Amino acid sequence: MFVGLDMGTSGVRGILIDEAGTLLAEADAPLDTQHLHPGWSEQDPDSWITACDEVMQSLRAARGAAFADLKGIGLSGHMHGATLVGADGKALRPCILWNDTRSAAEAAVLDANPVMREASANIVFPGFTAPKLAWVAAHEPEIFAQVAKVLLPKDYVRLWLTGEYLGDMSDSAGTSWLDVGARAWSEAALSASGMRGDQMPGLVEGSAPGGMLRDGLRSDWGIDGSVVVAGSAADNAAAACGIGCLNEGQGFVSLGTSGVLLAARGGFAPAPETAVHTFCHAVPERWYQMGVILSATDSLNWLARTCGTGAGDLARALPDRINGPSSTLFLPYLSGERTPHNDAAIRGAFLGLDIASGHEALTRAVMEGVAFALRDSHDALGATGADLQTVFAVGGGSRSHFWLETLATLLKLPLSLPASGELGAAMGAARLAICAVTGADPDEVMTPPATADVIEPRADLMEAYDAAHARYRAAYPAIRGVMS
Ligand code: XUL
Repeated sequence: MFVGLDMGTSGVRGILIDEAGTLLAEADAPLDTQHLHPGWSEQDPDSWITACDEVMQSLRAARGAAFADLKGIGLSGHMHGATLVGADGKALRPCILWNDTRSAAEAAVLDANPVMREASANIVFPGFTAPKLAWVAAHEPEIFAQVAKVLLPKDYVRLWLTGEYLGDMSDSAGTSWLDVGARAWSEAALSASGMRGDQMPGLVEGSAPGGMLRDGLRSDWGIDGSVVVAGSAADNAAAACGIGCLNEGQGFVSLGTSGVLLAARGGFAPAPETAVHTFCHAVPERWYQMGVILSATDSLNWLARTCGTGAGDLARALPDRINGPSSTLFLPYLSGERTPHNDAAIRGAFLGLDIASGHEALTRAVMEGVAFALRDSHDALGATGADLQTVFAVGGGSRSHFWLETLATLLKLPLSLPASGELGAAMGAARLAICAVTGADPDEVMTPPATADVIEPRADLMEAYDAAHARYRAAYPAIRGVMS
């Protein structure tokens, strides 16, 4: 038996599967995020532990006999979070999350040092870990002085599970301190950002063992034998493992809090100038590239809150099929943007509002704006040589046929829906645990799921959506000029 624990931004999802990948139980526990100031986004690291414990207890309650036979746990977590740990292994302050943009100035300074892109293969984005540490050094020097280790969120959970300070390649690639080509900490990047190698955890591949479950937890949870914790993965790499996306041509688009268009790559081909992310995959000798937009379902959730309704209600009010782009434009830059603009200061906009524009027109515009932003990521990925052929759609937003048809038409690609629903990153984490325990070949374990439906692009409307996308592209520099 294997457990996959996926720590998403809004909650922890856990699944229990057998070695054949059959789902036996699933459980969720919510997580809170604090936004104390504009641009800030933090979570209490100990709330992850409470939520993971609750999920493990629920899995046990659902399938006690199977759970007692647990052999491996795989973790997946939201990326880039700075979890600062003192010499006693306790968190020194709340974790600064991936969508926190307070360290934009520090990121720009680090990014201007050629050493950083050279080693890390990426722009130093404000959401990445290194600039957050520079912010803490400048604004909270008494905390900075106590930092014994910097852990990514899922690796803080690993510390609780195993007592070990370890990280994996896919998550560590998002710190700006990893030499992403060599899959090792970069002394040059660490010293250029005022950090020391001893503040980093040890490194393992995601599909290799990454610690053993502590005896205390084994007896608390009623588990009979020893349990391996896999090296594990960043959420996007884990989702790629869950959806069978390891090789060139395979990819997925995720409509979650953030939006991601990911392409698996056989080789290492960094292209930081495109603002795509080039990261290690969770299996050895593989990499992936992705465009990341900061507010995908976050944009729809914002609209729903503002309209005093639910995101699902807004989505259900739209027709299933698209019939041409709307005359209202929405720029989804509610928290700034990564791909392709790398602009933490830009904010969102509605353009072309009409006296008759109601909830439905705004919902359409928001879904289209997010799809335009993902088209930008697709264009940026194309510039790196990635050639997507098979693309699965995942994340909460993929429940909307209207949204997916808009996206398929803009990307000019059919989008497949997995029959297994929303298990992506948790399934990927559990599959990494299978590899870590049995030594199985990841290519054998990480196969694509059965397809429930394929959303085809609308050839009759492509030209109209291309023209609307060109208007969207022109809006960004204009808005930036007016607002800055
Ligand atoms: C990727 C990123 C987000 C988070 C969200 O670079 O920041 O996708 O991993 O979970």
